[in-house]
Amino acid sequence: MFTEVKSALQKPTRKYTYREVDESEVVSALEDIFVIRPQTLRNICKHFVDELTLGLKEDGHTLKMIPSYVTRRPTGKETGSYLALDLGGTNFRVCEVYLEGDSKVRLTQKKFTIPDYAKCGQSDVLFDFLADSVLTFITENNIPTESDIPLGFTFSFPVDQTAIDKGYLMVWTKGFDCKDTINKDVVALLNEALARKNVKVHVTALVNDTVGTLMSHAYYDPGTFVGVILGTGTNAAYVEKVSAIPKWKGGPVESGEMIINCEWGAFDNERVVLPFNKYDQKMDEESTNPGQQTFEKMISGMYLGEIVRQVIVELIQRRILFGGISSPEIETPYKFETAYMSRIERDHTSDLLDTKMVLQELLNIPYPAPRDRRIVRRICELVATRAARLSAVGVAAVVTKMERVNDGCTVAIDGSVYEHYPHFGNRMKDALHELLGMFEENVNIVLGKDGSSVGAGVIAALA
Ligand code: GLC
Repeated sequence: MFTEVKSALQKPTRKYTYREVDESEVVSALEDIFVIRPQTLRNICKHFVDELTLGLKEDGHTLKMIPSYVTRRPTGKETGSYLALDLGGTNFRVCEVYLEGDSKVRLTQKKFTIPDYAKCGQSDVLFDFLADSVLTFITENNIPTESDIPLGFTFSFPVDQTAIDKGYLMVWTKGFDCKDTINKDVVALLNEALARKNVKVHVTALVNDTVGTLMSHAYYDPGTFVGVILGTGTNAAYVEKVSAIPKWKGGPVESGEMIINCEWGAFDNERVVLPFNKYDQKMDEESTNPGQQTFEKMISGMYLGEIVRQVIVELIQRRILFGGISSPEIETPYKFETAYMSRIERDHTSDLLDTKMVLQELLNIPYPAPRDRRIVRRICELVATRAARLSAVGVAAVVTKMERVNDGCTVAIDGSVYEHYPHFGNRMKDALHELLGMFEENVNIVLGKDGSSVGAGVIAALA
């Protein structure tokens, strides 16, 4: 294989074709496709605000705007010990959350990798896996099972929530696809699985990770009104006035407030405002949920690497990159991970030596020339910058909808993309400035680490 590639590269014809397209020409064509200008950002934002409002009016719109049944924010004085389960990203986490009062929290946690067979098989297989992991955690940490410890279940998928501890799965996202879970109450499924394993815990709250992130940060900072996830998937939750939710039929709410899970990943599934291009299109067609989660697919960690891969594959086919030489790895969907993009964007060596390592060692591209490395790096930069700018649109739209642009608020953000992707936060801030002008300073964006787990504990405490 290697000699084949080598001899192909040495052929003068290949070499000639390879040099045909000027680097700056390639880059500027890609910029035309991926750069979002300020005016477009503003148009998307305007449409976003309208969609947020529409989703609150009645069911059946693109943005589900799900009332979370969380109607109180914490004071920071709540105390006690709670179990929290967190399902929704790459790992499943089981945690014991100690709320110490005085806004202090202690957390013991264990991560479990969810096997692929559990993500896409029968429901029971997934829920048995969750119950087994809880049992392992309880045993390892000597948690007395007869104590009937309250448990907050962070289940980060769209559910039709009918009570704080009841919710029916509407649709899977992020590559999960157990067919027989749809329309079932996920709390009941978890309770049944726990009973099968004889684990005595009591699920007191069903929580979306965005709601958890908002609540856990509000435990430290009462100015927190928005929780965002920028990780495997993306979504946001915020504090809404019950009077602004015409579709709410659940009776009077003492606080007058309700935390709304927007499920913003579905924004613009109609594809009227987002600059969804041919590479996005191809990735979408080959995904487990084509036509869905349009916004999420342009932003979140599950998809960014795949978009970059789609671009690279096309440039190889057109003999613009790597002399037209491909590899089985680069041809494999999802093989180009978003983590590789982070690594490439962190590569500050003059010859992009780490980029070369990624391409050679992880993707089996034999000779990535310096020009090719620079192009690949620029592709990563373009795809990730577009993601950051669109994330900022979402934040600006939510803050505008809440009418907090003047008064300001804290937006707690959790998730691997926000936490680990280089420059993501700064790129978001630049776009927020383009959208809100000097009011950008009123929007205090902070990292809300471990929010989804701690938040489940906080909500279990309040429930
Ligand atoms: C997906 C889920 C949503 C979750 C988000 C972030 O968009 O549908 O519920 O909050 O991912 O994990």
